[in-house]
Amino acid sequence: MLGSVLSLFVLCAPSGAQQPAAAQARPRAPQAGALEIGDPYFPGLGNGGYDVEHYTLSLDYDFEGDELTASAGIRATALHDLASFSLDLYGLEVAGVRIDGQDARFERPPVPAGADGKPQPPSELVITPSAPIAAGASFQAEVRYGGRPHGRPDPAVPFLPGGVGWFRMESGVYVVSECIGAGSWFPCNDHPRDKATYSFRITVAKPYTVAANGIRTEVVEAGEARTFVFEARDPMASYLATLNIAEFSELEAKGPRGIPVVIYHPVDATQAELADFKRQPEVLEFLETVFGPYPFEAAGGVLSYEKIGGALECQTLPVYGRGSNLEVIVHELTHQWFGDCVSPDLWRDMWLNEGFASYSEWLWTEHTEGKAAYEQLAKRSYAELRKRKTGAPFDPGVARVFSGRVYQRGAFVLYGLRQEVGDESFFRILKTWVETHKNGNGSTEAFVTHAAKTAGRELQPFFDAWLYADVTPAQPELEPPPAPAAGKAGG
Ligand code: ARG
Ligand code: ZN
Repeated sequence: MLGSVLSLFVLCAPSGAQQPAAAQARPRAPQAGALEIGDPYFPGLGNGGYDVEHYTLSLDYDFEGDELTASAGIRATALHDLASFSLDLYGLEVAGVRIDGQDARFERPPVPAGADGKPQPPSELVITPSAPIAAGASFQAEVRYGGRPHGRPDPAVPFLPGGVGWFRMESGVYVVSECIGAGSWFPCNDHPRDKATYSFRITVAKPYTVAANGIRTEVVEAGEARTFVFEARDPMASYLATLNIAEFSELEAKGPRGIPVVIYHPVDATQAELADFKRQPEVLEFLETVFGPYPFEAAGGVLSYEKIGGALECQTLPVYGRGSNLEVIVHELTHQWFGDCVSPDLWRDMWLNEGFASYSEWLWTEHTEGKAAYEQLAKRSYAELRKRKTGAPFDPGVARVFSGRVYQRGAFVLYGLRQEVGDESFFRILKTWVETHKNGNGSTEAFVTHAAKTAGRELQPFFDAWLYADVTPAQPELEPPPAPAAGKAGG
C-alpha cells in the first residue's frame, strides 16, 4: 500500500524533483522476521513479521513407542517483506519445510546450556524461503517434524517441575501449555497476541481416543488406527490449544442456545466425580447473565486420569486434574470469556485472566448462597491480603504470574470496583469489555480506560490504589468486628 503511493509520487513528480526523495522511496531489502514478539517476561518467545490465520495439525502418535510423526500447515500473512522468519518449536526434529509448495532452508539455532550446565534443546525454527515473501502476501508453510515431545521449563511455573506443554503419563497424553508450552508439540507463533483458528487430525491406535479444542467433525477408521478430526473455528491463543489422548468415556449435554457440551472422562469415573461436571450448562447459564453470551461454538472439558497440577482453561475444552470440584469448573468456564475470548496483551496483564476467574467464584457463591456468603469471602480474602502484604496485581514479574498478587488481589480489584461504581455500571463494564475485545487482546491500560469511560467518571485514584499500589487499600468495613469483651461473652 505504502509502496504504491510512493511510486505514484515518483511518477507524478515534476522533473525538478530532488534525487534524495526518490532514493528514499526505494523499498528496503526484505528483512528477517523478528525472533521474538516483544514480551518482556519471555525474551525469545513468539515471533515477528507475520500473522498466523490457521494451523492444520496432522499428528500420528505411537502411544507405546512414545513417538510423534507430524506435519503442521501454517497459513499466515507477511507483515513486511520477509527474507526469513521463525517459529517457536521446543526440541523435536524437523524433517523438511516447504513454503507455498517450494522446499525452504531451515535451521535450529543452538541454545546455550542452562545455568545448571545442562544442554538445552533448540526452541526456534528459522525458515528461509527460496524467494522472499512480499509484505501483505498470504503464504502457506508446511513443517514435517516428529520425535518424542517433552514439557518445556517455564519460569512462570517454577512449582511445576515438568514444565508446561505436552505430558506423556501412564494413562495418556495431556497438553497444558500456559504460558510457553505450545512449541513443545507444534511449530507456532507462541504468544496470545497472534490468535488463529485450528484444524486437528490426530491418529492413534485403539483403544485410545482423542479430545482437542472445538468440534469433533469426523472419526476415520483404518484397521487398528483411528483419526480424530477436530475443527476449532474461533480464533485461539496458542497456549490454549490442547490435545488429550487416553481411554476416555464421554458425556454429552446441551449448553445455552444449544451449544454442545462434551465431557471426556476416565472410564472408571464415579457418578459422584461427574456430578459437578454435569452442572456445566447451569454454570454457563449463570455466567451468561453476568458476562454476556458464551463466546464459543462448543464447551465441555477433559477430566484427566491424573492430577496434572490443577486445571487449565483450554478454549472450549478446559483440562481438569482429577479431583477438580465445582469451584474449579466455575473458574475455568469464566476463563472462556476472560483469558480465552479476551486474551492478555502481554503476560504482565495476567490479572485480567486470573483476577476475573477468581472473582467469578465469589459471584457464583453470591448466586447460590447469597450476599452474606459473598461478603464473607471478601472479608477472608482481605484479611489474608493484609496479613501477607500481598503486592500489586499488575506486572507481578514472571515468577509471580500465578501468585496471590494476580489471583487474590486481582479478584479484589473487581470486588472494589463493584463497590466503587455500583452493580449496574460494574456489570456493564464487564460485558462491554468482552464485546469490545472479542477474539482479540486486552491490556491493563485499556481496561482502566474502558472502566472509566463506561462508568462515566474518573477512576484513576481507585485503580492507583487497588491495582497498581503494593499495599492492599484499607477497608475498615471488611475488618473483623472487635472481639467481644470477656464479661459480655455469651450474654
Ligand atoms: N490458568 C490456570 C488456572 O488458573 C492455571 C494453570 C497453571 N498451570 C500451568 N501449566 N500453567 O486455572
Ligand atoms: Zn485461572
